[in-house]
Amino acid sequence: MKVAIGSDHGGFALKKVILVLLVELGYEIQDVGCYTLDSVDYPGFAAMVSAKVTSGEADRGILICGTGIGMSMAANKHQGIRAALCSEQYTAHMSREHNDANVLCLGERVTGSGVAEEIVRTWLSTPFGGGRHQRRIQLFDTV
Ligand code: RB5
Repeated sequence: MKVAIGSDHGGFALKKVILVLLVELGYEIQDVGCYTLDSVDYPGFAAMVSAKVTSGEADRGILICGTGIGMSMAANKHQGIRAALCSEQYTAHMSREHNDANVLCLGERVTGSGVAEEIVRTWLSTPFGGGRHQRRIQLFDTV
């Protein structure tokens, strides 16, 4: 599975932790930045990861900022993106099983690195349930 990942300065340290985990787990990674702690604007990174997911260049995306809120708001503006902001494992699981989330958002200033790693493991390994959930996510495009 190909995973695109991006952060702003507020998520940079957690991105480094998650990158190590993704390598360990054998995922193919596309890191769109940022690459330093210099202050940057998160919507650009949300756009780059979203474009990789909607084009099929990546199967899933992970976005990290200080709270995860800005990244999730920005990513969900992109057609075809279903971004889920998760701070614990249950939501991560359900965002895949019921919502077929294709982007995971994390907040470095909210979620500790150990919990974030468990969220990522769960989120990447949980399949979509389909069925009634498929019908429901299809309704997103009709409103
Ligand atoms: C940057 O200070 C911070 O605003 C950003 O990382 C994020 O939390 C926005 O939602």
